Amino acid sequence: MQDIDELAAELRTDIEAAGSLDDLEAVRVRALGRKGTITHLMKGLGAMEPEERRAAGTALNVLKDETVVAIEDRRTSLRNLALTEQLATESIDVTLPVRAEGCGRIHPVSQVVDEIVAIFADMGFAVAEGPDIEDDFYNFTALNIPPEHPARQMHDTFYLEAERDGAPLVLRTHTSPVQIRHMRSSPPPYRIIAPGRTFRCDSDMTHTPMFHQVEGLAIGHDIHMGHLKGCLEEFARVMFEDDNLRMRFRPSHFPFTEPSAEVDIGCSRKGKELRIGEGGDWLEILGCGMVHPNVLENVGLDPNEWQGFAFGMGIDRIAMLKYGIPDLRAFFESDLRWLRHYGFAPFDVPTLAGGLAR
Ligand code: PHE
Repeated sequence: MQDIDELAAELRTDIEAAGSLDDLEAVRVRALGRKGTITHLMKGLGAMEPEERRAAGTALNVLKDETVVAIEDRRTSLRNLALTEQLATESIDVTLPVRAEGCGRIHPVSQVVDEIVAIFADMGFAVAEGPDIEDDFYNFTALNIPPEHPARQMHDTFYLEAERDGAPLVLRTHTSPVQIRHMRSSPPPYRIIAPGRTFRCDSDMTHTPMFHQVEGLAIGHDIHMGHLKGCLEEFARVMFEDDNLRMRFRPSHFPFTEPSAEVDIGCSRKGKELRIGEGGDWLEILGCGMVHPNVLENVGLDPNEWQGFAFGMGIDRIAMLKYGIPDLRAFFESDLRWLRHYGFAPFDVPTLAGGLAR
């Protein structure tokens, strides 16, 4: 019988010398396989005298365990070695300048969403989201638009066949349901903006069935119209990069705000050309107001304790105005030539410090 110590030393050397997982497997089969050296020695135990068998059995078991552990260790270090090698060959230098011609472009809507978020984030607003498919309660009822209210017709709603609580589901007609979802899911105060897709059955030069809005909501103990006015003035002046931009707040009506206003910014129209800030004309950009007490009650807030403002504006329209894009429908045609012309460089992320758009 081969000397066990000798065999142990031999195996140790072979295991250490195995340069690949395949080599190592061959060593394992040679020692522990069905016809392996250790297996063979173990089979021989039966023919020994009890005394001798006990001693040899113990030694063989120790050898077997040590071999299994040594192979496992070697396997781990071979794997680590392979990984280190792979990582070294697959490294990329992320500091290399990007090749501009290989880049996609950022869609004007995404760009303007990022700009709007940057401006309101600077005023302490966080981004909130809600689903495109809404139920009647969130899109209408909770917003103080009861079933027979004429505003439901004005919204040109897309109704789905599916129902929830006995009422059809709808594609949300505005981002205002996000107000409700947000207020029902967390305690006041609130300061959020909610950009997203909205849907109305309407299509021409300035309307598409899917468009984008951003909702704003600020609720606290003493938030008033002055704050609303200040926020929106700050927004419009930064957005249109004009510190003296003229604005006017016109009394209006929305079921979910009281009082309500529409906001116009100064512009001039010469023929087809529209310029923001100049001239004596006005252009409507958003709706806003103080959140109606019924809306606060619908989300379980006491209107004697909590108050604040909300606003909603069309993002696509802001993009058209700011970047002089004439036809809204082209926004959603996925024409690459249009995107190359009107799109934005992906690495110019809008920030207030770095500039909103270049
Ligand atoms: N949801 C309104 C719309 O789609 C806009 C709005 C939002 C008005 C919030 C007032 C307050 O027209």
